[in-house]
Parts: sequence; C-alpha cells; structure tokens
Amino acid sequence: MPHQDWNVDRRGFARTLFGAFALVGLGGADDAPAASLADLARRTGLRFGSAVRAESLAEPELARLLVRQCATLTPELELKWAPLSPRPDSFDTAGADAIAAFARDNGLRLRGHTLLWHKSVPEWLGRTSGWAPAERHIHAVMERYGALVDEWDVVNEPIDRAGLRNSVLLRRFGVGYIARALRTAHEAAPAARLFLNDYDLEYPIPEQADRRKALLALIASLRRQGAPLHGVGIQAHLSLARGPIDAAVLRDFLAALADQGLAISITELDVRERDYILPAPARDAAVADHVARFLEVALAQPAVGSLSTWGLSDRQSWLEVTPDDLARFPGAWQDGTGPGLNRGLPYDAGLAAKPMRGAIAGALTARRVGQ
Ligand code: G3I
Repeated sequence: MPHQDWNVDRRGFARTLFGAFALVGLGGADDAPAASLADLARRTGLRFGSAVRAESLAEPELARLLVRQCATLTPELELKWAPLSPRPDSFDTAGADAIAAFARDNGLRLRGHTLLWHKSVPEWLGRTSGWAPAERHIHAVMERYGALVDEWDVVNEPIDRAGLRNSVLLRRFGVGYIARALRTAHEAAPAARLFLNDYDLEYPIPEQADRRKALLALIASLRRQGAPLHGVGIQAHLSLARGPIDAAVLRDFLAALADQGLAISITELDVRERDYILPAPARDAAVADHVARFLEVALAQPAVGSLSTWGLSDRQSWLEVTPDDLARFPGAWQDGTGPGLNRGLPYDAGLAAKPMRGAIAGALTARRVGQ
C-alpha cells in the first residue's frame, strides 16, 4: 500500500477552556467543542464515523475534521466491486488504498462497504459463469484491507418489499447467494464481523413495514442455514417528507434484530430535507430535530455498536436538491438566489458545525455508558 503523508496531529487541535461547555445541542464552529463525536461515542461504547471519498482526502480541512471527529471511515465508493475491478484481470486499488493509508496513519478503522451490491457489479461479470469471480473478489478485498476493517457489509441492499430483491446477483448466482457470500467471507477472514446492510427500514409506513418483515425473514432463513452473520446495518437515509419516526415501531424492530443475537450499526445517517423554502436556521432545526428523535430511539438499543453519517459536510453529500424539489416552490427565489445544498449532514459546506452535529452529540451524551 503506498504510504501517504496524511498524519494529522490530533493534539494540535486546541481544547479550549470553552471545551468544558461543549456545544451539545447547539452546534458551532468545529474548533470550539472539546469532545469530538468519536470521543462522545466511545464513552458510551460506540464507534462514530463517516463515509468519505478518496478525492476528499485532498482537502486538508476536511481531512482534519475527519480525523478529529471520527473513529472509523466508510469508503463511499472505493471498495465496491465495479470500481475495484473494471476488467476481469484488474484490481484497481488506488482509491481504496488511499483511504486505507489515511485511516492507518491516523489511527482510524474502516467499515468494509461493500463486498456485493447489485448496483456495483462489474459489467464483465455477465460474460463469466459460476461463483468463482465472486469468491476471488471477496478473498482479494478482505485479504488486502481486512486488518483495518471492523465490519464488512457482505451484501448491501439484499431485500425489497416482497422479500429477496430480484437483482442481478440473485439471477446470476441463485437464491442461495447471500448465505454463500457470508460463508465465503468467513472462509476468507474467519475473525471478520459480517453484516447485511439495507435502507428504508426506519419509518412507520406500509412499504417500510414490509421491508422490515422481509429483512427479518431473510435473517431467520440465514440462521436456519447456519450462515455466519454477525450484524445488520441500518442505513438511516432519513427524509423529512416521510413523516415522523414512530418510537415504538423502530424500537421493536431493533429489538427483533437484537433478539437474533445480531449487532446493529447505523451506517449511512443523513437527512433529505423537504421545506427548502425556509431560512437556513429553520431548515437546520428541522433536520436536527428529526435526527434527535431517530437517535433517541436507535441509541437506546444496546446492540447498536456504531454510528456513521454518509459524509460529514453538506458539500460532500450525495443528496441533491433536484428540479422536482425546486418545482414544489413556484415563485420562490425570484431574486436569483436558491436553496443551496441539501443540509442533511452535521457540518455545512464551510465545515461549520450545524445543529445536526449538536443533535448527534446530545444523543451520544444522553446514552448511558454500559447500555
Ligand atoms: O467520479 C466520477 C466523476 O469522475 C464523473 O464525472 C461523475 C459523472 O457521473 O461520476 C463520478 O462518479 C460518481 C460517484 O458517485 C462520485 O460522485 C458515480 O458516477 C456515482 O455512481 C457514485 O455514486 C455513489 C453511489 O453510491 C454508487 O456507488 C454515491 O456517491 C454514493 O453516495 C452511493 O452510496 C450508496 C451506498 O453505497 C449504499 N446506500 C445508498 C448510498 C447512496 O446512494
């Protein structure tokens, strides 16, 4: 792995007298709060982290913020099969190596996202047959990066509303592919913690109720088959258009996962906004309030062991304000301004902490140690 000079001196970030009054619940510039999100998480038995793209590490201020706030990083793209293996005989590790080197040099861990995902299958796979290409891929990735990885998303997004997702992976490898992937991963790295990771599991709406049921049914089936599964990732791409979180529904679902002996990770927390027309402080308050409600329930479940946001700053968010979003506010922004970026991550585009950062800090602080 190429060495890069990414070492950032954590102690170089002054812990000021104001640190004792960490801006829990308030946000504020990042150099003000004493306790980082990683510190607050660690005190309650959690690992805090963020997704990151290799290219973002070239931004020194963002790199410094990642080191300051995170204990773990999730490569947003670089560990996926398609970018790693554009041709059958290639293993394009530059991006993943850069993130791994950054993590290693700064004492951070990685989440291994993701070994198999129907949206990142190399195009050449269609010209092959049998399980061997998947087996080679799983072994190669786990062997190269395993020493830094705490949790592997072995299969990403395997379900849909009706049960198993009818994906290219299912069609290519057959219904047993999830158990097979878990077994292959276990062979490649017997000590590795193996996860499934999925989305739209958080809200009390019928489609998501079906998805929760489908995931629990898949887990029961994997258990019957004796497949090695240690945890489940709840992506938590929240949305203000979906209505409120129902505490009892979310609590019961997380308890059902924990009852299966599974660890739970919140893996991709962010918030898609709705009311882009409001002033930024009101938008930020709505996002923070929603995150606080979600985390109050999620972090009360003792099986939850890690929490990651899908990026730290709005500038890196995959969530975009779409033309459809703008069309919902006819006549708005006639002065030529606009709503700017979606504001669903803890730091704004200038890397200033927002109320969402305070909501996360508050939820971490409120969680009892040893829960
Ligand atoms: O880097 C290229 C750039 O050179 C090119 O000009 C541009 C043109 O489209 O594409 C850029 O790559 C894109 C990349 O994001 C970086 O922006 C890819 O096309 C695009 O497919 C990729 O999307 C990522 C997506 O996964 C697919 O890998 C998103 O950033 C990433 O946030 C998203 O992450 C997923 C999780 O893995 C699973 N859960 C949902 C989550 C959000 O969709």
